[in-house]
Amino acid sequence: MSPSSRRLYLDNAATSRPKPPAVADAMCRYASELGASAGRGAYAEAIETGELIHECRRRLNRLFHGERPEHFVFTLNCSDALNLAIKGLLGPEDSGAHAICTHIDHNSILRPLHAVEERGWTSVTRVPVDPTSGLVDPNDICNAIRPTTRLIAITHASNVTGTVQPVREIGRIARERGIPFVVDAAQSAGHVPIDVREDCIDLLAAPGHKALLGPLGTGFLYIRPGIETILRTIREGGTGSVSEQAVQPDFMPDKYEPGSHNAIGIIGLSEGVRWVAEQTIAKLAAHQTELMQTFIDAIEDVEGLTYFGPRGVADRVGVFSVRVDGYEPHELSAILEGQFGILTRSGIHCAPLAHEAIGTAALGGTTRLSFGAFTTLDDVRYAADALTQIAATSRVHASTMAARG
Ligand SMILES: Cc1ncc(COP(=O)(O)O)c(C=O)c1O
Repeated sequence: MSPSSRRLYLDNAATSRPKPPAVADAMCRYASELGASAGRGAYAEAIETGELIHECRRRLNRLFHGERPEHFVFTLNCSDALNLAIKGLLGPEDSGAHAICTHIDHNSILRPLHAVEERGWTSVTRVPVDPTSGLVDPNDICNAIRPTTRLIAITHASNVTGTVQPVREIGRIARERGIPFVVDAAQSAGHVPIDVREDCIDLLAAPGHKALLGPLGTGFLYIRPGIETILRTIREGGTGSVSEQAVQPDFMPDKYEPGSHNAIGIIGLSEGVRWVAEQTIAKLAAHQTELMQTFIDAIEDVEGLTYFGPRGVADRVGVFSVRVDGYEPHELSAILEGQFGILTRSGIHCAPLAHEAIGTAALGGTTRLSFGAFTTLDDVRYAADALTQIAATSRVHASTMAARG
């Protein structure tokens, strides 16, 4: 088979590509016409930069039905937002505290929790998931709660299986007991509806650079009004406000935003969020569903090809982990790129417990194909066809490898 000249990007779970043209346009305009640091000067360029940053908070607030725009705090990415949420709630002052997370979670929840556990400040219960669907049973979360539980954290949509968890149900359980509920929306924000009020989310962490279609280097944490009274800042520094004070400001968003902003990134993100809001989440989610259905229909009966996560399109986003018999995940990725021009990611995807749950940890993980807002039905048919062709050759490949010994 000759190498493909086509390049099909199916790694949107890592970061989305392409972005709407308005994202780069706004970033270029900022770079060439403004270039100032918000809150660091009284001149027009600095003021306009500050207004553009605030406009992004307003757009996020509308999209996620937040209570106040200034409660959207900008971060470097989703991991940074989760570090703030987790370490801001669980410090040495909270020694003896207990936290709950799940086996489906990404390392951006697992590692900060492991870090506070190792320091002896927190004990952690990791709730198992169903090995086929990847779903968490809210009753298991309920049963894990102790009088000392200070946090429940969960990855809304899995970056391995695509599984979408019942966050509203878990949120209600947490809210009834007054336990802060942290949601990692890295794979769900921009793909499925999230209403922080209805879903009882206290801390919503998300990247700006995935389905919100902003550039890399952006992310945010939504802090429900009131939670800032118990969430410590984990960084201090200049804010351009109350500079005479020795301590970090206690008002939003300055409490959690020391240092100059990533203005160019946030201004790009703002356009991504605007695009998503204009399309509507309902329409984008319907498009994802159509892509998922087309992909599943094409691959589900292919011999030697396995996909993981929920069967069918319910409770999932367009993130598919697959394995083809006879191929290591990285070999499959290399064939997909080399022969078909399809760009995927293989391995453990920063979610080791998720791979243990679905039985792929000891096998080197899976190959992941992830769809974005600009992925077309033709793209997913092409990818499904490529996998089908590779699966058809897998037995020949396996016997050749066996013969080589
Ligand atoms: C489920 C999940 N959570 C968190 C992250 C971390 O996001 P970021 O790279 O923006 O820190 C990712 C990244 O892929 C992810 O898939």
